[in-house]
Order: sequence, then structure tokens, then C-alpha cells
Amino acid sequence: MTTVDVRTPEALAEAERWTAHNYHPLPVVIAEADGAWVTDVDGRRYLDFLAGYSALNFGHRHPALIAAAHAQLDRLTLTSRAFVHDQFAEFCHALATLCGKDLVLPMNTGAEAVETAIKVSRAWGYRVKGVAPGRAKIVVAENNFHGRTTTIVSFSTDPDARDDFGPYTPGFAVVPYGDLDALTAAVDDDTVAVLLEPIQGEAGVLVPPDGYLAGVRDLCDRRSVLLVADEIQSGLGRTGRTFAIEHEGVEPDMYVLGKALGGGIVPVSAVAAGRDVLGVLRPGEHGSTFGGNPLACAVGVEVIRLLQSGEFQERSRRLGERLHAGLRALTGHGVLQVRGRGLWAGVDIDPALMTGRQACERLAEHGVLAKDTHGSTIRLAPPLVVSPDEVDQAVAALAAVLADARR
Ligand SMILES: Cc1ncc(COP(=O)(O)O)c(C=O)c1O
Repeated sequence: MTTVDVRTPEALAEAERWTAHNYHPLPVVIAEADGAWVTDVDGRRYLDFLAGYSALNFGHRHPALIAAAHAQLDRLTLTSRAFVHDQFAEFCHALATLCGKDLVLPMNTGAEAVETAIKVSRAWGYRVKGVAPGRAKIVVAENNFHGRTTTIVSFSTDPDARDDFGPYTPGFAVVPYGDLDALTAAVDDDTVAVLLEPIQGEAGVLVPPDGYLAGVRDLCDRRSVLLVADEIQSGLGRTGRTFAIEHEGVEPDMYVLGKALGGGIVPVSAVAAGRDVLGVLRPGEHGSTFGGNPLACAVGVEVIRLLQSGEFQERSRRLGERLHAGLRALTGHGVLQVRGRGLWAGVDIDPALMTGRQACERLAEHGVLAKDTHGSTIRLAPPLVVSPDEVDQAVAALAAVLADARR
């Protein structure tokens, strides 16, 4: 590892000088990236084991995605939705097919797609289910993370996300995640949707108990309630399947997608659902200037093509087993618990040794980038292009960090 210059401190100071404190980044300033690797402004290389919170499932600058973006940049980038462009139908068709749904509505960020899902669920409740005006209720789970808009933080249970941002949007009920009895009790005649992450990412990669999602599906069917799966982080190959909810053989009424849909190049999000659900929207009722723009659609089509090959889901499954086996071997050696599926793991570090933040800082010193969440948990979500050796390298780095702390 050669240090060509020492630009990191200056770049960090400048960032600190000019930006509001919405994130608490690790002190790494990235200048270049390729596949599973990033290089900082001083020439240090790191294995990226966060992958943009799963926005980089196909790795940094995947050649097919970059080629699609370049080709589109040279032709047409933005039309607004006032007109139709020649990439739009292909993208929507491909995504609807991937999801097994009739219709798609593209947006940009994850939070926008969640907002879309909320609006569509409410409109469906009033126009199809027959809920009285203004009474629609959506049931969500404790420790959820669905984004940062004022409505979405209204039903967050994380004080950092919520406090001081009220007044809050009404119409949501919060129940413990994984507790089917609590969910059943919360669903009433005014309930239009249950909105869930099939695996809770921000909460620490929490996998619900076996049978929970199938039970939620059954409850939603019995009570005429939409099951809305927020697969923004868990979907598109991350867990070894195209969608995490597939692990329980469940099909939601609406998928909410984002992150990896933009191939790590542009923000692309979408909801996908049946015509009976998404068809409730009428022209003029919802929109976004950049939603479904030509560049986004061109990249999105290529993302879906990559997923259709099944290669990335298979890599996640196979290498995920390797990752989890390596991490489980650290249990009792500074790791308290490992959760997750595929190439996605939440690792609880013994808080007596260090915080999650400290673990990530030390991992970075060992050349691996990861991010903490909630105290002593770290999240590992490498790009799905990672190699077996690179998986071993990251596990070895964590083992070294823990061994140092236990000395
Ligand atoms: C499950 C889930 N939903 C929604 C979001 C929000 O996405 P965005 O940050 O693109 O608005 C995130 C982001 O981490 C997420 O993990």
C-alpha cells in the first residue's frame, strides 16, 4: 500500500466546513472505484463491504451498466414525463415482468417510492376497499426504516430519525416486527396496507421468524389489506433471491424498489403492483420530474437484464454461505450474534470490546469498509461481484480487529 499524497485530512476538513451533519461518515475520502474495490484520495485501496447500502449490488462501474449509461448520455437524458421517451416502456415492461406484476411506476429515491406506495395504498383503500374518507390506516413495524420524508419519519420508532421533525402525519399504527398476533390485533376495517421490510436492514439485518411473512400474507388476504414489501435494500439479488420475500414463498401486492435498481449510477426507484392496485392512480394525481427519465430507464433495463441471468442471485447465495460461515466462526471470539441472508449480514460485536463505530474504523484500517448501526452492530453487504478470496479477506480483517481488542 503506497501513500501517494496525504489529501484525506484536508478533504475531510473541507467537507466538514461546508456540509450539514446528516450523516456520520467514516474518515475515508473515495476517489475511484472498480468492482468490489474503492481507492481513496491518498491511493489507499479498500474492499467495499457496504456497497452503498446495497445500491451497488453489481459492484462499482459494472461494464454493462456503464456502457448503457454512456450510450444513453450520448442520445437523450431527460424529457420530463410531459412526453414519453423511447426507453420508458421497455424499462417498465422489464421491471413489471421481473416482479410478476402488471404495472410499474418509476420514481427516483427510495423514500419517494415508499411515499408512492403509501399514496397508492390510501387511494386503493378509498376507491376500491371502500374505507371512509380520511380514515385509511397503514400498519408498519417497530424499528422500520423506510426513508426520511416527514410522513415516513412520522412512523419511525428511531428518535434520531423522528424527534423535532413533527407535527407528524397520522394514519399509521406501529407493531413489533415479527409478531403476527400484534399485527393481527392492529389490523381493522380501516386498514389499507401492511408495509414491511422482509428483512429489516437499518435495524441490524433482522430476519423475521420463519412463517411470519407467510402469516402476514394470509392475514392480508383475509382482511382485504395490501401487503407492501419494501425491498429497497433487501431486493434485487441481495439475499440470494431476486426478492427477500421469496424465501418464504410469499408474493406481496406491491413491491417497493430502489437502490440497486439504479446500478450504482443514477437514483432509480419504483413501485410494482397489479392493475387492480396501481391502476387506481389517475393522470395528474402523482408525479416526479425526474421519475423514469431516459438515463434512469436505460440503466434500469440493463440492471434487470443482469438480474434475469440469475448469476447475481446465485453468487449471493453461494458466497453468502461462505461469509456467514466465516462470521459464525467468530461467535464467542468477540462476536455475539450473526444474522442475515445471502451476502448480507448484521454482526453484533461484544459491546465490552468496542462500539460498532470503532469496529468499522478499525476495519477501515485493515482495508475493509463497512458501517455500524445501532450501537454495537455492523452491517456487511459487499457487492455481489465480490470473489471468494475477498470474502475471506474481509472476515480475516474482522477477526484481526477482534483479536487486537481482546489482547
Ligand atoms: C428499506 C429501505 N427503505 C427505504 C429507504 C430509503 O431510500 P432512499 O435513501 O433512497 O430514500 C432505505 C434506505 O436505506 C431502505 O433501506
